[in-house]
Amino acid sequence: MTETPSYQHDTRKSRDAYEQARHIIPGGVQGNIKFYQPYPLSFATANGPWLHDIDGNAYVDYLLSFGALILGHGHPVVRTAVQDVWNIYGTSSFGVPYPLEQTMAAVIQRLYESVKQVRFTNSGLEATLLAIRIGMAYTGRPSIAKFSGHYHGGHEQVLVSTKATVSDGREPQKVAESLRLPDYFIDHTEILPFNDIEGCSHILRKNKDKIGVVILEPFQNGYIPAEREFILQLRELTTELGMVLVFDEVKTGFRIRLGGAQEFYGVLPDLTALGKVLGGGFPIGAVGGKKEILELMAPGHSDNPQEVVFHSGTFNGNPISLLAGLRTIEHLQEAGNFESLLNTTKQLRDGIESLAKAYQLPVQTVGEGAIFNVVFTDSSLPVQPRNMVKQELSQQHRQLRGQLDFLLMRHGVFSKPYNRFSVSLSHDDAAIQVTLDAFEKSFAALKKM
Ligand SMILES: Cc1ncc(COP(=O)(O)O)c(C=O)c1O
Repeated sequence: MTETPSYQHDTRKSRDAYEQARHIIPGGVQGNIKFYQPYPLSFATANGPWLHDIDGNAYVDYLLSFGALILGHGHPVVRTAVQDVWNIYGTSSFGVPYPLEQTMAAVIQRLYESVKQVRFTNSGLEATLLAIRIGMAYTGRPSIAKFSGHYHGGHEQVLVSTKATVSDGREPQKVAESLRLPDYFIDHTEILPFNDIEGCSHILRKNKDKIGVVILEPFQNGYIPAEREFILQLRELTTELGMVLVFDEVKTGFRIRLGGAQEFYGVLPDLTALGKVLGGGFPIGAVGGKKEILELMAPGHSDNPQEVVFHSGTFNGNPISLLAGLRTIEHLQEAGNFESLLNTTKQLRDGIESLAKAYQLPVQTVGEGAIFNVVFTDSSLPVQPRNMVKQELSQQHRQLRGQLDFLLMRHGVFSKPYNRFSVSLSHDDAAIQVTLDAFEKSFAALKKM
């Protein structure tokens, strides 16, 4: 346990709320990754970069609903968008076509060069599920390959080795990440080593007649970058082997760059999964990509269900998620706004690193754009992407990060223990100053431990 001695004292109401909630809600949370020991905080309100828990403590928020709230909580642009939905459309859901779907698809198409057509879903999970379904239908092969340590949402096909696993020679272990995950999914999911093109080549070539889809987070967990050479070679390799390459940009979309990690690398996947920021704080996902692949879903082509890939969803493309998302993207595109977000992130990262230096702690920040993580480095390893993958396994990192996260909470900064940091446009100078003060106090305390 890494919590500070004062955690249970300062957050008694959260503890009571958890004790009650867990009788009616499994683990007291709406998702397993939302839990942390000894109990998760329970929140009352939020505004801009701030969160307020039910005990009355205030925190600068770097979780931002797992990165979704790129403008911060309750931004006027998003509030107005939601009001406008009633004024313009008079409904929260048509359930059938209306023009905003095309407008939003065209915005994605302009920002993401690889995207020629788009379908909307209600979550990132559904987006990766759909990308895999159409990729497999396109290639007619029965298996996928995903990377060790990469998360694509909670569906069976990708609930394998979502935590970094030790490589056995070149082949990372297959680990089921859910109780009694059917063997079918383990058997049809190959696990690849990130930033190791020779390892990937070996596994993909060995299974070339089986694997139809290769899916990855271009930045593992949103912050560990693929080496440029690696991602270029992976693109070439998958093209050569006739596999559909899917970039899961649910975290990285609109955060690494407005055009995602693919804009940063200049590499075009066959399919892209988007989510989070795209909905402006409301549920969303999207799959975009090559026309010949997405067209497999176009129902007008055939009356025979076995000739069309099925996809549907009652709330797909609903006006609240689309207009909130559209206005969010437009706001990010206004002169200077995205640059300002990048500058704030840089200012924060530089501040954390110089405090770490002053306190002689082996801490670095790693990431790109408006996401990063605070990593305790094994001082024998230079901080390079290849080593960062191993860093995920470092006991020292986990223990110190856990301690740091509870100290930060005590001093008014929340990222959820062990989570990466996402920054929003509402993180102003005051919020950054509170954050850096909290880091200073936390580093001072860590140094004494
Ligand atoms: C890379 C990635 N893919 C997919 C998902 C699933 O998205 P959602 O939680 O909206 O279902 C997530 C969520 O964190 C994610 O980070």
